[in-house]
Amino acid sequence: METLKILWKKLKDGSIREMWEEWKWIYAYGRRYKKEIVLYVIFGIIGTCMTLISSIASKNLIDIVTGVQKDRILPMAVIMVGMAVISILFQAAMSRISAQINIRIQNDVQADVYEKLMKVNWLDLSRYASGDILNRFVSDTSTVAGSAIGWFPTLLTSSVSFIASLCVILYYDPTMALIALLNAPAMLIVSRLLLGKLRRSTGEVKRVNSEVMAFEQETFYNIDSIKSFDLADLFGERLQGFLQTFRQANLDYNMLSVRTKAVLSILGTLIQYAGYGWGVYRLWTGHISYGEMMLFLQLASRLSSNLNSIVSIVPSTIGATASAGRLMEILNLPHEEKIEAPEALDALAGQGFRIQLENVTFSYRDEKNILAESNFRAAPGEIVALVGPSGEGKTTLIRMFLGLIVPSAGKAVLGGADGNEIALNAATRKYFSYVPQGNSLFSGTVAQNLKLGKEDATEEEMEEALKAACAWEFVSELPGGIHGTLGEKGRGLSEGQAQRIAIARAVLKDAPVLLLDEATSALDVATERKVLKNIMKSRPNRTCIVTTHRPSVLGMCRRVYRVMDAEIVELDQEESERLAINF
Ligand SMILES: Nc1ncnc2c1ncn2[C@@H]1O[C@H](COP(=O)(O)OP(=O)(O)O)[C@@H](O)[C@H]1O
Ligand SMILES: [Mg+2]
Repeated sequence: METLKILWKKLKDGSIREMWEEWKWIYAYGRRYKKEIVLYVIFGIIGTCMTLISSIASKNLIDIVTGVQKDRILPMAVIMVGMAVISILFQAAMSRISAQINIRIQNDVQADVYEKLMKVNWLDLSRYASGDILNRFVSDTSTVAGSAIGWFPTLLTSSVSFIASLCVILYYDPTMALIALLNAPAMLIVSRLLLGKLRRSTGEVKRVNSEVMAFEQETFYNIDSIKSFDLADLFGERLQGFLQTFRQANLDYNMLSVRTKAVLSILGTLIQYAGYGWGVYRLWTGHISYGEMMLFLQLASRLSSNLNSIVSIVPSTIGATASAGRLMEILNLPHEEKIEAPEALDALAGQGFRIQLENVTFSYRDEKNILAESNFRAAPGEIVALVGPSGEGKTTLIRMFLGLIVPSAGKAVLGGADGNEIALNAATRKYFSYVPQGNSLFSGTVAQNLKLGKEDATEEEMEEALKAACAWEFVSELPGGIHGTLGEKGRGLSEGQAQRIAIARAVLKDAPVLLLDEATSALDVATERKVLKNIMKSRPNRTCIVTTHRPSVLGMCRRVYRVMDAEIVELDQEESERLAINF
């Protein structure tokens, strides 16, 4: 009754439905490897039959020795050992097959999650800590892969082994079989009762795992700041805090499973002793032989271990569905919208593009507007500057140009020379080159970094781009030149050097629109001007939008917009000169 009530509650609050959905998702991955799984199951069943035959042979062997049965010892011994060895070989083959399927499923799931991460709406993804994502990507995919096939063969081979063993016992002594079967209902009830608790506890463990990973990742990422602010002790303490929660969650989960196992073991042992007592009694009264007694003992322990494996499918499936839920959460994030640009627009790329905002309103989380009914315009051949206090929305604007975010009202478009326009979105991103704020280099060589801008760039093209970005001089002096290796985030370079390589990469892409987000902030004034001049020279009808705090650049700009108080205001000559003085 109690069990039914719990089940009913779960049905009502939807967690069973949720688990079912998650389970179906995992199943879809397992199904891809049908053939391998069938082979695995067949091997499992053959292995089981072999062990059973080996057990029966060993019973016969004892009966021959004790004179109950007349047969030849040697062939029986050969059968016993032979079958045991063969079943070991099948076990080995099975563990190999399961490892192969496991790793392939993990690859499949990771590939899908990775692909999805690349297409997810930027704003939705930005709410997750990268450590959390990484944790889901690594540990949850591995849990899912582990159970995608695990449960099915286990269920099948254990059931077959269970039924076969039971039949053998039934054949020799039905009462014994009945005693051995007593385990089953007890186990089922216990596992049903634990379903909800286990699910909650598993979920908690995974959530805490993610938190710890996010913390650690951030620490390693910001190790310079932590050291320079002398915060090593503070962060050590914080880690202790996280680890304590981590320990607690894991120990809670462990307690649950230890208790379950203890209850099940006690039940199992009691039943085993009952069987043992019954066997001894039958042996005493001369109803069974020593050989049969040994066979019973062997089979009874097989039965309980089979049941155990079947029951333990429950917690592992719960663990897997919890992981599946965490991955599905990512996979169900909305895609960014992609509106393919018409081919006619493609053809106009050579003449440059106009970027225009009209009455654009935007807010990140429906709180305060970062932009309200704002207008902006940048045309081919122009350098347009965005200035304004920090935190007012310059980078936000750049994100809108790149189609990472979309206005909640108004229009943000890219227009061609023929007057046609298309809303800025993920598909128009290809017309942009972008140098982000901060260091954006990857580990690898300078050339590898540059080729991210243009895959098939020649040595000459790379040299030219580096020269335009005023980077050639120092790059050519690096050990290995453009083929010299950089560390993570371009370690080994100064910030200004990293910026110049990032600029060269953007120049190489040679897109109609170039966005520089404080990309020249670490350069000296003379170099900055030179870089901008070179950029415009390399493609005269390029549209170039720069955010800057530098007055020196403003003079080179066709228009200057100030982003402040949710407004984009075009500054006239006088204002912009005044601004330059006040900087
Ligand atoms: N991913 C984000 N989620 C929520 N708010 C954000 C996000 N990025 C920036 N903001 C907010 O938007 C405002 C403008 O930020 P930003 O465009 O980066 O300013 P800046 O002019 O310095 O480049 C800031 O107040 C910031 O708090
Ligand atoms: Mg910014």
